[in-house]
Amino acid sequence: MKIGAVQFEPLFGEVDKNLGLARSLIMKSDADLLVLPELFNTGYVFTSKEEAISLSEEIPHGKTTRMLCDVAKKEGIFIAGGIAEKSGNRIFNSAVLVSPDGYIGRYRKVHLFLEEKLWFDPGDEGFRVYDTGVCKVGIMICFDWFFPESMRVLSLMGADIICHPANLVMPFCQDAMKTRCLENHVFAITANRTGTESREGKSLHFTGGSQITGPDGGVLCRAGEDSEETGVAEIDVKAARDKKVNFYNNLFADRRPGCYGELVVKSL
Ligand code: ACM
Repeated sequence: MKIGAVQFEPLFGEVDKNLGLARSLIMKSDADLLVLPELFNTGYVFTSKEEAISLSEEIPHGKTTRMLCDVAKKEGIFIAGGIAEKSGNRIFNSAVLVSPDGYIGRYRKVHLFLEEKLWFDPGDEGFRVYDTGVCKVGIMICFDWFFPESMRVLSLMGADIICHPANLVMPFCQDAMKTRCLENHVFAITANRTGTESREGKSLHFTGGSQITGPDGGVLCRAGEDSEETGVAEIDVKAARDKKVNFYNNLFADRRPGCYGELVVKSL
């Protein structure tokens, strides 16, 4: 199958323009599974909780999820992308996964970064893996990579491919993903955004470099730092199902949870 990372510069608050651009980039690609950046419909640098609420949408009834379902159906593909989710009086930094047959599921970001903690509620549904019939897909969002538990738990739950919508501002993730993928023998699609958002004296620069990483830690494709582009890689998903390291070692069978007390005892 072909998997891809869609990289572009969302414009803050310009939801219709962002949806239009995302849609046209999706339609130009020939990938079977595409990932869009974190908060691709709204932009990132919110200045108040009210603003974040006003730009957030219900999942799956909001217009962003509906647009993704529509284009997924037309193109016969799977798409994951990040949006601000409204749920009652709470909002989450979420991502949805959609298929040619419609909405599959969502993920609510567990590890919030910087001022996201002021706008969003921390994810309350943990990590989930979805079986598309062709591959098993897990989702994490941006800063989740910093916590190795995120990809470990998704991998233990059977994910072959980690969809990773991102708005990266630090330079470490792409190199770290080589290790994350190697230590779990999974594929990852890190779809980052580009550009600088400056709002009310706050400014963040997003670093591009969207990357598809293989189960051997190899980089299958990497985008430029400023470019609008969709990186696509042809993969054999079976490569993610072999957890053998060598004749003696297996990534999962050799784990020693009994020695990881602090990790498994501390609760959410
Ligand atoms: C991030 O989590 N947006 C860095």
